[in-house]
Amino acid sequence: MVSLASPTQKRQTQGSIDPILALTRPDMERVNDLILSMAGSNVTLIPEIAEHLISSGGKRLRPMLTIASALAHGYGSGDGHVKLAASVEFMHTATLLHDDVVDESDMRRGRKTARTIWGNQASVLVGDFLLGQAFRTMVEVGSLEALAILSDASAVIAEGEVWQLAAAKKMTTSEADYIAVVDAKTAALFSAAVEVGPVIAGKGAAERTAMREYGRNLGLAFQLVDDVLDYGGSAADLGKNTGDDFREGKITLPVILAYAAGSEEEKAFWREALEDGANDDAALERATALIRRHGALEATIRRARDYGARAYEAAETLPDSAGRDAMLGVVDFCIERLS
Ligand code: IPE
Ligand code: IPE
Ligand code: MG
Ligand code: MG
Repeated sequence: MVSLASPTQKRQTQGSIDPILALTRPDMERVNDLILSMAGSNVTLIPEIAEHLISSGGKRLRPMLTIASALAHGYGSGDGHVKLAASVEFMHTATLLHDDVVDESDMRRGRKTARTIWGNQASVLVGDFLLGQAFRTMVEVGSLEALAILSDASAVIAEGEVWQLAAAKKMTTSEADYIAVVDAKTAALFSAAVEVGPVIAGKGAAERTAMREYGRNLGLAFQLVDDVLDYGGSAADLGKNTGDDFREGKITLPVILAYAAGSEEEKAFWREALEDGANDDAALERATALIRRHGALEATIRRARDYGARAYEAAETLPDSAGRDAMLGVVDFCIERLS
């Protein structure tokens, strides 16, 4: 494990998710009911696969953020926030089904991935179904602006995943390239998830900009931490295997930084491992040791903290409310989940 926080900090961190859990609990019950009904289909393979992933949990971070953002902006009595939150989680779930095919991952949310049980074809097709259901539900909300934000994010996420595929196995990938990919594949959905809050609450451009800024920076921080955990975390805690990024030749920030700091001999090792696929367990062990020796996890975490600070500042512009506290707490949670 990456140990960067004291036990006291860890307690505070766990506490930092509590405000959003408490604030969104009643609405999240409705979101979860809706999610289950959206997974329904007469084609029985669809609920079978969807429920495998849905019932295994997941943090439900993005839909909680949608609810919190709507409430923080004074959204009143309708169910638009619940529908948008469920749609956001479906977009995310669809992405995970697709992502595990692309990444050839075997474990997700503590279970075997759908692709290892039902195969790649079924995973891709059910992912498409979930995406379709997400858009059906969004349309019911009747906000063309919210639809525009989420459909834009959907295209950008797919673009990011393709971009990442094109950048894989290339040690020439720069930090800026990496951040651009993360902006698309992860930050776009966090940003959209919270931007729809002020939109359905009838707020204006300033509030939308602040939420975009919050979501984007939170998403960047979240993915940087995820990439750290792929080298420094434990599979049991994460519910997914570590080392997936290495085996797939994914060039993430810990690798970019360790490569830049490495000797010629180390650079040759990285090229053989990630470009030519010499990535057995011994190579992963060496990669992890090099990443540690060059302080690349700590440097990645420092960047995550910088993005987190920007997210924090953006949420601080909200009027004092339980929604604001919830959104501020999530920033700490996303970064400190390392410990
Ligand atoms: C996983 O997201 C995909 C990334 C952006 C790293 P989460 O870590 O939020 O996944 P679940 O929903 O909690 O399983
Ligand atoms: C996140 O990337 C996937 C998307 C946001 C599309 P990863 O490939 O790092 O996510 P995990 O580690 O499989 O959850
Ligand atoms: Mg993956
Ligand atoms: Mg990952």
